[in-house]
Amino acid sequence: MTPIRHQIFRRKPAATLLAEARPNDEGLKRALRAFDLTLLGIGAIVGAGIFVLTGVAAARYAGPAIMMSFVVAGIACAMAALCYAEFAAMIPIAGSAYSYSYATMGELVGWIIGWDLVLEYAVGAAAVAVGWSGYLNVILSGLGIHLPDVITHAPAAGGVIDLPALLVVLFISGVLYVGISESARLNSIIVVIKLFAIAIVIIGGLFFVRPANWLPFAPFGWSGVMKGAAVIFFAYIGFDAVSTAAEEVIDPNRDLPIGILASLFICTLLYILVAAVLTGMVPAARIDLKAPLASAFVIRGLNFVAWVVSVGAVAGLSSVLLVLLLGQSRIFYAISRDGLLPAAFSRVHPRFRTPYIPTVLTGIGVGLTAALLPIQEIAELTNIGTLFAFVLVCLGVWILRAVEPEINRPFRTPWVPLVPILGVIFCGYLMASLPRLTWIRFFVWMAAGLAIYFSYGRFHSHLTLETSSEGTNLLDAEKTASQR
Ligand code: ALA
Repeated sequence: MTPIRHQIFRRKPAATLLAEARPNDEGLKRALRAFDLTLLGIGAIVGAGIFVLTGVAAARYAGPAIMMSFVVAGIACAMAALCYAEFAAMIPIAGSAYSYSYATMGELVGWIIGWDLVLEYAVGAAAVAVGWSGYLNVILSGLGIHLPDVITHAPAAGGVIDLPALLVVLFISGVLYVGISESARLNSIIVVIKLFAIAIVIIGGLFFVRPANWLPFAPFGWSGVMKGAAVIFFAYIGFDAVSTAAEEVIDPNRDLPIGILASLFICTLLYILVAAVLTGMVPAARIDLKAPLASAFVIRGLNFVAWVVSVGAVAGLSSVLLVLLLGQSRIFYAISRDGLLPAAFSRVHPRFRTPYIPTVLTGIGVGLTAALLPIQEIAELTNIGTLFAFVLVCLGVWILRAVEPEINRPFRTPWVPLVPILGVIFCGYLMASLPRLTWIRFFVWMAAGLAIYFSYGRFHSHLTLETSSEGTNLLDAEKTASQR
């Protein structure tokens, strides 16, 4: 038996990695271009973060300086996005950060990241589904329809089951089951609707801004700005999800960096504008915690506008769900392909060419979680998990530049190692700004992941069957591939 030390540090052979990345007829269907990816990114990014969490962050922590919080979190994400772009163009495979870490830092780190990404995608999706259900209630109430609490709230929130949250997750999983093209098309329609809602907030809200509301600018000082940034970081999550669709992109080397960076850039601009308008419309202390953007208009007596914004929010949250669920099933697919999860997770549907088993299982797991647990409480868990993944991706870019400098990089992160180091510092600082309870939950989750690896993954890893992964690097693999 291979010693544990060799097992956990073995890197995934680069030849296998590149072979998986190459287009073929049996894998996932390649149908996406840069424009679709940018929309996919915006689809994943603009959601509960801006529509819901901005309220908590502004009212409780940052005040009008929430604008600064968005800038800080945006910088952290920009550094990480530049690193993601280099990896995604170089290794365009479905596993995203999981695959990058497996290739650069070995099997154990790869698995840890894969397990960690469940926090970002599945737990994040469950939180978004609960938010979706809340906004749906607002819309229905506006129409005079009142659903009973028993079927709209989880037990801890005073109900029995959050049925709308469960149903929306199952519906979207159904769309993902049927096909990537259909999913991208649905996403594009939703993105247009939610950008319209955001445009209404920015342009419509501009007329109601009272500059006096921007003072005091930072009532809780710099620490409030940082706490706000750690919360609204959630609003940026999703640009990295673009990379999980890598095997469904027609020209991944060119289009993945465009999709990742363009979607993040557009959303950062929109967020700063929304934050400026919101805090200009309503004094920070009076900002609503549940539906801050819609309520800002209610406060000014514009109920119809508030209703339209709520419709946009529900649409927006739907597409976030779509991309997060898409990302989770693709990551399970990639992990299973390596043997660290059972083989069923990487079976591709003969007709739809989607990873249907992880799609169904993710749908059921996320749906039940959203329906039965007080998910909002652990939404911060999503942030810490994602920030941790970003830190490792930044480190990975730097490590690979040093270890394999000559490999072909269709996109190069500028100013390495400065950008990765800044990424680590910014993301690390945001992690440190999260509450202690979140850290404890994070450690418990990671400990469970380690237990799974040491009891299952390391025995079933496909690398267990191969004698040597050392000696094969990405450069050698590229040479071999080009000689064929
Ligand atoms: N960024 C996504 C949202 O705000 C996860 O909902």
